[in-house]
Order: sequence, then C-alpha cells, then structure tokens
Amino acid sequence: MVSNPARRKSIRARNIADLRYIARRRLPKVIFDYVDGGAEDEVTLRANCSAFQEMSFRPRQAVTVAQCDLRTRVVGHDLSLPFLLAPVGYSRMLHPDGEVGAARAAGEAGTASILSSISSYRMEDVRKATKGPAWYQVYLIGGRSAAEAAIARAAQAGFSALVITVDTPLVGNRERDYRNGLRELMGKNFFAKLPFLSQFFSHPRWLLDYLRDGGMPKLENIIVPGQGPLPLVDVATALSRAVVTWEDLPWMREVWSGPIVVKGVLTGDDARRAVDCGAAAVIVSNHGGRQLDSTPAAIRALPEVVEAVGSQVDVLMDGGIRRGSDIVKALCLGARAVLIGRAYAYGLAAAGENGVAHALGILKEDLERTLKLLGCSSVSKLNPSFIGAAPARAPEIFSNPAR
Ligand code: FNR
Repeated sequence: MVSNPARRKSIRARNIADLRYIARRRLPKVIFDYVDGGAEDEVTLRANCSAFQEMSFRPRQAVTVAQCDLRTRVVGHDLSLPFLLAPVGYSRMLHPDGEVGAARAAGEAGTASILSSISSYRMEDVRKATKGPAWYQVYLIGGRSAAEAAIARAAQAGFSALVITVDTPLVGNRERDYRNGLRELMGKNFFAKLPFLSQFFSHPRWLLDYLRDGGMPKLENIIVPGQGPLPLVDVATALSRAVVTWEDLPWMREVWSGPIVVKGVLTGDDARRAVDCGAAAVIVSNHGGRQLDSTPAAIRALPEVVEAVGSQVDVLMDGGIRRGSDIVKALCLGARAVLIGRAYAYGLAAAGENGVAHALGILKEDLERTLKLLGCSSVSKLNPSFIGAAPARAPEIFSNPAR
C-alpha cells in the first residue's frame, strides 16, 4: 500500500474519476477548469483518454502470478513504480500542500517527481521533502540568465535530471481559462477579482486554505535579474518570450552536467533531433492536450518514437493516463515509464498530499491487478503481443453513470 491506509480510507475515491469528482466539488470553477481543461475544442485532450480505451488486451490465461515486479530504471534512476509525477504548474493554487506535498507523496511511493518552473515553493524545499529522485523542468522564462541561475540552483539542491519542455512556444488557446477570466484572477487589478467572490465563497474549504496559505503566490524558482521572483500574473506573457529551440540544447548541455530529458516530442524526427542534441530520454507528450489541439493522442504517437530512438535512449510518455491499465498499455508499446499529470493533480486538489498518495495507490493497485489478469509477472516482460485490435466504437471517457 502506498499511502497511509487509514488516511486513504477517509478519501472515498475508488478511481481517478472519483478524485476528479471530489476536486471539482472542492475547487472554484476557474481553478478546476484550469486543471481539467485543454486547448480549443479539446479534441486532443479527449483523444488522449479515448485512445487508451480503444486498445484491448490479449491476456495469457491459466497463469499464476503471485508477485508482480513493478520496478523500472529511467535515466539511471531505479524506481519502484513505472510512473512518475509530471510537472504541473501552479499546483499550490489547487491545495497549499502544492509541489512539496506532491513530491513527498511520490518519494514515499518510491518514485520520482518533476518540479515545474512555474512553482511557488522554493525548489530547495521541494527537493528536501522527497526521498525519491526529483527532476527540474525548465522554461526559458526571464531569458537564458534567469534559466541558467535556476539550473545552477537545481544542481546545487540535488535535482538529478533536467527536463526541457519543447512544446510551449506560447501558451495554447485554453478557452475555458479565457471565458472564466483566469488571467484577470491572477492580475494585479483588485476590482477585476470581485466577480470571483461568489464562486470563492461557495467553496469555503478551498478559500480558507488559500487565505491561510497567503493568497496568490510568487514563482520562487524564476528569479528575474534585478526584479526578484516573477509574479504569477506575468507567466503567459513571459512564456511567449521564452521559446526553446534546438539551438538552446547545446547551451543547456554545457550548463547542466546531468541527464537531459526532452518533453513534448510527437514524431520520430524530433525524437532523433533531441537525441542528436544529447538527450538521455524523450517524453512523448502533447502537454495533456493543452497546447496544439488536434495533435494525435500521445499513446498513438508513442510507437513511431520508440521505433526511431527506443534502442538508444529511454522513451517515456504522458497524456490521458487515468488507470493502471493505461500504464500497462503504454509499457507494452515500448515506454520505459509514464508520467501522470491530472491523475495526481485531481488528488492534490481533493485532499492535498494524502490525495496524491491516494492517486498513486489507486494506480499501483490497478497496475498489479492488471498484470495478474494479463498473466504477466513483471513490467519488464510487457510487449506489443499483449495488445489486441481496436473495437469498432470507442467508449465515452469518464462514463461512470454516477458522475
Ligand atoms: C501541465 N503540464 C505542464 N508541463 C510542463 O512541462 N510544465 C508545466 O508547467 C506544466 N503545467 C501543467 C499544468 C496543468 C494544470 C496540467 C494539467 C498540465 C503538462 C503535464 O506535465 C503533462 O504533460 C500532462 O498533464 C499529461 O497529461 P495528463 O496526464 O494530465 O492527461
């Protein structure tokens, strides 16, 4: 069991969809939609989940599997679980436990966590909180000098891999955020925040936590030279001036001596380019459907990338993981491990660190059960022969009738 069983019992969630339901009730709409939403028509957001549901298993029957080996090794790190926490910006708005609580829960479960640049706990405190590996995800917000200072801090603090996200030349068109006025909420104009009061007061538990935590935090890990920590408000503008290109990779190679992981590739060509630039691993990802809409489901893009670079570097993927069986499917198609984003963010929003531990526990139990039902004793033995053909019609995502 990953989390404290007594505490987990108090969270009445049997699956990730249940955690999402609790998160939706606890958060004001503007904050819930920030986590839950995607870009434009959310075609990719939905496809990430439905593509997993369209894949079927080919189990080996009449096989006894007493123990399942869930261990994997990614860029030199031994992990007890083949899934780790994706970088999720603004986590502290979901719950005061934020990035510290999430990293601690990951460490307790024996896995790694990735800290987003867009985080408001100091990276040193996040690193100290977890006994698992911690990686730092960098955006070039504030320019190369700000990023270089953050990278040096990350190395000093003990972060053991640098994740470079390459799919964010600007923020995607997230229309829920636009309609809900997320930008106004984060802005400096006090009067622009008044329309949010009714949704805040109708979510008193979240509001109390938020006020006790000191309100809108600053981004403690993006120190703009001469200005200090970046205020939350400036992020969208700052990101549009922070494009990462392949030309930045050699420079990052110089300033960071550990493994570099390139996040956000969707084609074999880009994966090869990342490897040519010195990446030790690539993450097949469409940013959880939050950037360019109508990119393929990440699981659909995985085989091309595995084929291109899987024999040279570790290939990871993220996007749409909501069940342990989704993790198994990704591993069957050649992923060394997967990242989970919303699956733990819903847990964090629902119940802080305990909620993250609960999400990890759900996925771990799912994973063991799926392996046993599949007749496979180890994640290292999974291969494409466990995957079958697609059904004629895709089921709805989150089709739980109680929701
Ligand atoms: C993200 N993601 C993300 N990625 C990144 O490289 N840096 C970041 O700061 C963020 N921030 C962020 C915030 C929120 C609210 C979400 C939902 C996602 C993308 C994330 O790392 C991951 O790629 C996706 O979340 C994976 O999809 P699922 O698991 O959420 O379906």
